[in-house]
Amino acid sequence: MAQELLKVEHLSAAYGGIHALYDISLKVDAGEIVAVLGANGAGKSTLLKCLSSEKKAAGGTITFDGKPLPPKPYQVVEEGMVIVPEGRQIFYKLSVKENLKIGCCLRKDTDGIRTDFERIYAMFPRLKERESQYGGLLSGGEQQMLAIARGLMARPKLLMLDEPSLGLAPIIVNQIMDILKEVNQDGTAILLIEQNARKALKLCDRAYLVNVGNIVAEGTGADLLADEKLMQAYLGQ
Ligand SMILES: Nc1ncnc2c1ncn2[C@@H]1O[C@H](COP(=O)(O)OP(=O)(O)OP(=O)(O)O)[C@@H](O)[C@H]1O
Ligand SMILES: [Mg+2]
Repeated sequence: MAQELLKVEHLSAAYGGIHALYDISLKVDAGEIVAVLGANGAGKSTLLKCLSSEKKAAGGTITFDGKPLPPKPYQVVEEGMVIVPEGRQIFYKLSVKENLKIGCCLRKDTDGIRTDFERIYAMFPRLKERESQYGGLLSGGEQQMLAIARGLMARPKLLMLDEPSLGLAPIIVNQIMDILKEVNQDGTAILLIEQNARKALKLCDRAYLVNVGNIVAEGTGADLLADEKLMQAYLGQ
């Protein structure tokens, strides 16, 4: 049986009195790519905020690698769960290299960090070319690459991405999806939050469809992709 990495059971979350997540149960096994799909306001980012301990859940449990999720975001990173946030959130006034250093600021294995810089620059040659340039001067696609690369510098067991395709041209989105496949083949599990359902379903092993804070469907990427009615009803695609 595959090793269970992330397990979420009956998770609920609210902002003041308003519920954003009701009863979310999902899992990610080691080696998997799992997608969470849903329209605007479905609760996707709220889910990731709970998974990174940025937001306290109102109920339910989150287990990562057999242990309860730690309460502080930096501890979650130390456990091996790293988020690539919505809107990239790179540091505009820092260089590409400095942005990458922030990704590994909790690590102390100097040799490992050096190897990872080489690995990341081999995966993202454009970032190597621009390593001393301000992050804010990169194109949208390059900024997304930098956000992913920064996440990888923490050497996560699970990389969680919030809408990496947002606002990018289809050709760049394809490049991002190819990179995620490569990252996964290197042994990192991926939780991919997306509105771009078709591309995410083609990439993932399994997916969950979230609608107004509830999971309304789950299955393999291929099964959900083939369900025209479901795609039309919840994703308008
Ligand atoms: N800080 C907040 N305070 C109050 N309500 C919030 C806050 N953040 C999100 N919400 C509400 O929670 C619900 C879920 O929002 P969330 O951002 O998780 O959705 P999403 O699926 O990520 O949407 P999008 O695709 O637009 O990014 C929405 O109804 C939203 O208005
Ligand atoms: Mg969101």
